[in-house]
Amino acid sequence: SRPRIDLVVEQTFTNLSAADVVVDERSAFAEHVLIGLSEQPRRLSSRYFYDARGSALFEEIMTLPEYYPTRTEAAILKAHAAEMFAHLDAPSINLVDLGAGNAAKTAIVLDALAALGVSVRYVPIDISEAAIAGCVSGVGARFPQLQIQGIVAEYGVGLNWLANHTDRPTVVLFLGSNIGNFDVPRAKGFLRRLWSGLNAGDHVLIGFDLKKEIDILLDAYNDAAGVTASFNLNLLHRINTELGGHFPLDRWRHFATYNVVSGAMESFLVAMERQSVRIDELDLVFEFRAWEAIHTEFSYKYLLSDITHLAEATHFRIARTDGDDRGWFATSLWQV
Ligand code: AVJ
Repeated sequence: SRPRIDLVVEQTFTNLSAADVVVDERSAFAEHVLIGLSEQPRRLSSRYFYDARGSALFEEIMTLPEYYPTRTEAAILKAHAAEMFAHLDAPSINLVDLGAGNAAKTAIVLDALAALGVSVRYVPIDISEAAIAGCVSGVGARFPQLQIQGIVAEYGVGLNWLANHTDRPTVVLFLGSNIGNFDVPRAKGFLRRLWSGLNAGDHVLIGFDLKKEIDILLDAYNDAAGVTASFNLNLLHRINTELGGHFPLDRWRHFATYNVVSGAMESFLVAMERQSVRIDELDLVFEFRAWEAIHTEFSYKYLLSDITHLAEATHFRIARTDGDDRGWFATSLWQV
């Protein structure tokens, strides 16, 4: 019995209850696993970390003492969101939130916009159905006057949405250093496409994790409590539960390291012994050598000069860049 590979169905939430929505991502996941585990070196995309369990684990990561990006970015937004949007000069906007997650940081932006009297149509987009359901109900409860349309899909779908909603100014949020999952050529391609979907005057607010002392980076992806390890291993757990995989999770380990050449934290799952792993849904057995690795994530780190270069290469104008005192994280507001 081979899996049927169907197109990923995108879903939108226009109300506050997400109870009956089912997103059929399983066949896309099956195809991805088939391809990624058949390549050498093997690789799986961090895109598939975010099932309900993975999203919950990432929420836990965001509170870890070693994982500085979330609280650093939140502090930057608290300090500067009001000034960032003071010159918007529009009665109503679209606020598109790419990779919204639980939208904790978005709430800071929404507070600032409410204080400025800007009415907002809020469009969170995330590949995690659980995250969007939580985000829509959480933000909806906190900002009852807000018009919300949640979309369970990849970023590209968000760009398509933009193309059909150019009736008012748009601010796109791309926070949390989510951009770090793209290598530089892909980041450029994505931002160029975003640029072409926006109108003159529209804004994009991007969160960049900055290059820093390497030990701080290593600690952030190798936390003492082991939550990041569970988050990474959840990918194999997901293959086991969704695709009938037989990965022995206790014979795999998390490994995260900083690539000084590319400037990225990279995460791997490493087999601690030789093993044959059957995946029922694929009707295949994968052979792993002892200490063989599956690459699972890139998290690119930036210099301020890299940010300037990226904006120039994608034809945006940098309106302002704000950072924290330690120079660990920056949010950069770009304008078309
Ligand atoms: C959500 C992609 C920004 O790369 O830092 C956290 C995910 N991975 N710990 C990041 C993550 C390991 C996170 N992003």
